[in-house]
Amino acid sequence: MSVFNSSRLLGKTVLVTGASSGIGAATAVLFAKGGSNVIVTARRADALQKVVERCVAAHREAGAQCGGKFVAIPFDVSDKNQVASFPDKIPAELRRIDILVNNAGYVVGVDRVGDISLENMEGMFATNVFGLIALTQLFVKDFRERGTGHIINIGSIAGKEAYAGGSIYCATKHALHAFTAALMREVVDTPIRVTEIQPGMVETEFSIIRYRGDKTAADKVYDGLQPLVAEDIAEEIVWAASRPPHVNIAELFVLPVNQASATITYRSKA
Ligand SMILES: NC(=O)c1ccc[n+]([C@@H]2O[C@H](COP(=O)([O-])OP(=O)(O)OC[C@H]3O[C@@H](n4cnc5c(N)ncnc54)[C@H](OP(=O)(O)O)[C@@H]3O)[C@@H](O)[C@H]2O)c1
Repeated sequence: MSVFNSSRLLGKTVLVTGASSGIGAATAVLFAKGGSNVIVTARRADALQKVVERCVAAHREAGAQCGGKFVAIPFDVSDKNQVASFPDKIPAELRRIDILVNNAGYVVGVDRVGDISLENMEGMFATNVFGLIALTQLFVKDFRERGTGHIINIGSIAGKEAYAGGSIYCATKHALHAFTAALMREVVDTPIRVTEIQPGMVETEFSIIRYRGDKTAADKVYDGLQPLVAEDIAEEIVWAASRPPHVNIAELFVLPVNQASATITYRSKA
């Protein structure tokens, strides 16, 4: 028996960006298990197809009677033209999106100010900020017209607290935080819900990308402590989405138990 009612997810259509790995993939699978339809997007088509297969299996295993429509639509959220043409690629039966999970994002490098390449700076802003805003703009008018909708933005501890070696990433997540807070204020006169989830350390491909493929350096981030896993954050996203329509989970700051801030952690020596 589940303590919390997740029946509100039944038959909903959820769009998850950055769903080819990590938090996005785990979120797609959990919504599938909860009886929702899910559209998964990211750049890697093969990885997205595997997530669709996991969604199908999770939906079947849960014996869910609703939902069960899963589709992968590969595109790059940092590319304006690809964002603009994305809605036309959504199958007609899934065009009425109920929940938008803006999760696509990344950090690359730990370069200090003065050494940051223009390419890295533009890439992080184009994905983490402009892509997220563009996606939100595509759906918010429809949400207003239909008097429904939930926008869930995946922020970060880096959007609450800046740290050395993370200036651009922290700036993007602070921008996400401001955008999300302003949006929540703009839609206060509607049933639209706006949520920001702010994870601390989550072990995904995130650190491997930050350290440009250096797995040893990425693993060091989690030395001596137990980080969150993608499924931990997926549970928070799905929980926020399944609250009653009059409840808006505005922010959720979620840390591993041995992390207290971006730079304060407890690590066992063993
Ligand atoms: N892991 C952490 O410690 C942590 C902590 C706080 C916040 N977060 C946030 O959580 C979100 C998910 O990260 P994660 O930890 O799950 O990392 P991840 O496993 O690397 O997943 C990132 C996802 O974003 C997608 N993506 C990146 N650039 C994209 C683009 N230009 N267009 C479309 N999709 C793109 C990737 O897919 P493709 O490569 O296939 O495009 C991938 O599916 C990010 O916003 C991240 O900032 C993570």
